Amino acid sequence: MKIKPFKLERYYTLYEFTAEYSICNSDCEAMTTNDLLALEEGAKEKFLNQWLGYTETKGNPELRRDITAIYDNISPEDLMVFTGAQEPIYVFSQAVLEAGDEVIVQAPCYQSVQSVPESMGCKVLNWMVKYEGNKPTFDIDDLEKLITNKTKVLYLNTPHNPTGFHFSAAEQKAVIDLARRHNIVIFSDEVYREVEHKYEFAIPGFGDVYENGVSLGVMSKAYGLPGLRIGWIATKNAEIMEKVAILKEYTTICNSAPSEFLAGVGLRNRETILERNLSIINENLPLYDAFFEKYADLFSWYRPNAGPIAFIKMNFEQDDMAFAERALKEKKVLLLPGGIYDYPGYFRIGFGRKGIPEALAKFEEFVVENFRK
Ligand SMILES: Cc1ncc(COP(=O)(O)O)c(C=O)c1O
Repeated sequence: MKIKPFKLERYYTLYEFTAEYSICNSDCEAMTTNDLLALEEGAKEKFLNQWLGYTETKGNPELRRDITAIYDNISPEDLMVFTGAQEPIYVFSQAVLEAGDEVIVQAPCYQSVQSVPESMGCKVLNWMVKYEGNKPTFDIDDLEKLITNKTKVLYLNTPHNPTGFHFSAAEQKAVIDLARRHNIVIFSDEVYREVEHKYEFAIPGFGDVYENGVSLGVMSKAYGLPGLRIGWIATKNAEIMEKVAILKEYTTICNSAPSEFLAGVGLRNRETILERNLSIINENLPLYDAFFEKYADLFSWYRPNAGPIAFIKMNFEQDDMAFAERALKEKKVLLLPGGIYDYPGYFRIGFGRKGIPEALAKFEEFVVENFRK
């Protein structure tokens, strides 16, 4: 089966660079190469002398050593570096799944975890979010009901795009116990990890604590360095790692050497970068709190405890795609409508970037002019 177009990435391709304002981006504030290099003495000089030959397929060994700092039980051999997070989702799925396998996906979701398995002839079952009031939850009994003897992979995403839901340590343990009982591989997309709003909300990577777990990490979101296109998977399962390595030789072979160097600088200075990005998040969140309190008749939100995104419920009759189109046309503000996730009546917001106060003010103008007359 031919793979479906990726609705969210199509949407961003069309609008991201033409909109003047955005309240929907999922990455934290980016920085220049110069600012990144300034975080480490001597890094600029080393970068200019970076050798531009091929790098190791698994990723530069030094970079892999730097990545292990994010985990407790992961060593450099348990890591494979990729181009962003999208490539490993594709490669993992192609390497591990076969037609006829069943997979379970936390939904709504970042589309590739549905569309890639579907295109291979796998059956994709959605573990749907449930809203308790405004609060998104994923019910573990619902998950258990979806499991059959054909279930091969459970795709998770925590903190979750688009709802902002994040597993607690107890929920994580319950999901792992269930997967272990049924011998299911967990592919856990953790691209929004490391910007938990309080330290106590942090949980281990699934690849760190489950023998058949694969954690997906990236420089794009919490670190705000998507232009590097550096991501990775972390797993203790050597069989999966081997299958993935064989397939990567058909996609990118190895990573960009300058990007690997720069990602290493970012990771060795992760505390500085993550603290900066968390402080941007903490400045933006009260603005959204105030906004959604003021317009509580129109919108409902649940403030997540981790990550830079949340999903907003529209409390009035209006097609979310048309609503976003109008906001863009009238005020040049980009929103991400729920229709993009096949989950209408909502839109996604982001709070990791510096331009949120201006963008939110423009969005407020749009709301007042159209819904407060
Ligand atoms: C949940 C999730 N996974 C993966 C990706 C892809 O990340 P990257 O752009 O680094 O390839 C995204 C990007 O938005 C995402 O939201």
